[in-house]
Amino acid sequence: MLRAVYPGSFDPVTSGHLDIIERAANVFDGVVVAVAVNMEKKPLFTVEERVEMLRSACGHLRNVQVDYFGGLLVDYVEKQQARVVVKGLRAISDFEFELQMALMNKRLNENVETLFMMTSAEHSFLSSGMVKELAEFGVTLTGLVPPCVEQKLTDKIEKTKREAQR
Ligand code: PNS
Repeated sequence: MLRAVYPGSFDPVTSGHLDIIERAANVFDGVVVAVAVNMEKKPLFTVEERVEMLRSACGHLRNVQVDYFGGLLVDYVEKQQARVVVKGLRAISDFEFELQMALMNKRLNENVETLFMMTSAEHSFLSSGMVKELAEFGVTLTGLVPPCVEQKLTDKIEKTKREAQR
């Protein structure tokens, strides 16, 4: 059984993430999509909300499970009895930081391999940050995020704006 962990912030999951998850699910026997807790970035969605959106988006994939983790990724990968970390790569701009993380993870645990999957061309420009910005400007997000995320993101942005006005 070859299991892989696909880690990330997923704040929120985009169609680009889902594309990587679907393709990883075709390659590995099992894929654990793992939402990172304790991020330095201040996320828009709580961990529970991010996990819930991922579970809805991945409902059609029988060999995919969604979880969350704190602490070091390599420790979580070992706990999951996996040996592979899957990451998506969009542009050259992703490469430098991803290389740094892959090398550090290798140093922390030499048994863990990081495998990169190239993004599909239609998602190469997509990021959670950009999707959030578009939502703030009221742009329709159809196709950019899974359908279950569309309304949740719009509602969250509205709520955040209301709270900021108080
Ligand atoms: O979606 P992101 O924000 O690019 O994901 C980054 C993530 C969560 C994969 C990365 O920050 C991570 O692995 N965090 C866990 C803490 C850790 O293991 N740090 C050392 C890795 S160099």
